[in-house]
Amino acid sequence: MKKAIIVSFEGIDGCGKSTQAKKFVNYLRKNNFDTLFFREPGTTKIGKKLRKILLSKNDDISFFTELLLYLAARNELVEKKILPEIFKKKIIVLDRFIDSTLAYQGYGRKLPLEFIEKAHQIILRGIKPDLTFVIDSPAHELKTAIGKNPDRLEKSLKFQERVRKGYKTIATEEPERVKIVKRKSIEQTFKQILDIWNEFLDEHQGNY
Ligand SMILES: Nc1ncnc2c1ncn2[C@@H]1O[C@H](COP(=O)(O)OP(=O)(O)OP(=O)(O)O)[C@@H](O)[C@H]1O
Ligand SMILES: [Mg+2]
Repeated sequence: MKKAIIVSFEGIDGCGKSTQAKKFVNYLRKNNFDTLFFREPGTTKIGKKLRKILLSKNDDISFFTELLLYLAARNELVEKKILPEIFKKKIIVLDRFIDSTLAYQGYGRKLPLEFIEKAHQIILRGIKPDLTFVIDSPAHELKTAIGKNPDRLEKSLKFQERVRKGYKTIATEEPERVKIVKRKSIEQTFKQILDIWNEFLDEHQGNY
């Protein structure tokens, strides 16, 4: 029986996913939860190589190639790191996971959602995050690495807003799993996350 709890952190560029995920992992470890922390892509050997390709700004990469590389990295992560731990009593914390691909490549780049969902079905082998935090903020309130060119900035803001809307759609479709957390100060944001986490633990006591 699956015993591990999978918690993922999601949201648009620079919203504070890594900050909150790290705080959450520290909190769990302090409270003696056996905790693993993976980031996507880049946790596995192949994932690290794929991350380099995905993050290199100079290469002209087709949107669909980009999607396939993200999915390849995810397959490695699931097969090599997550599945071997899934029957143990652990918390697996993920900095980005399936919803990033749906939001960015699906809703943002407008690649077919059915394809992404089908690929995920195969890659995930029946597992899924139990709880997902989406840190929500208007794109224009965040500092993103897009330079000072106003045309590029505008284009990028429009893209990030499409991604943001994508996350909201996912949260509406899966309200039990996906929780929208409004981005406030780091501590206030974290408090909302802990409240949701404690509620989740109360509701699922005995299931894990
Ligand atoms: N709630 C917050 N209020 C103010 N600043 C924040 C908040 N959360 C994070 N930051 C700061 O914003 C920057 C981006 O945070 P972080 O790296 O956690 O975001 P991210 O969502 O992981 O970004 P990326 O999409 O690039 O992975 C960091 O400098 C961080 O210290
Ligand atoms: Mg990050």
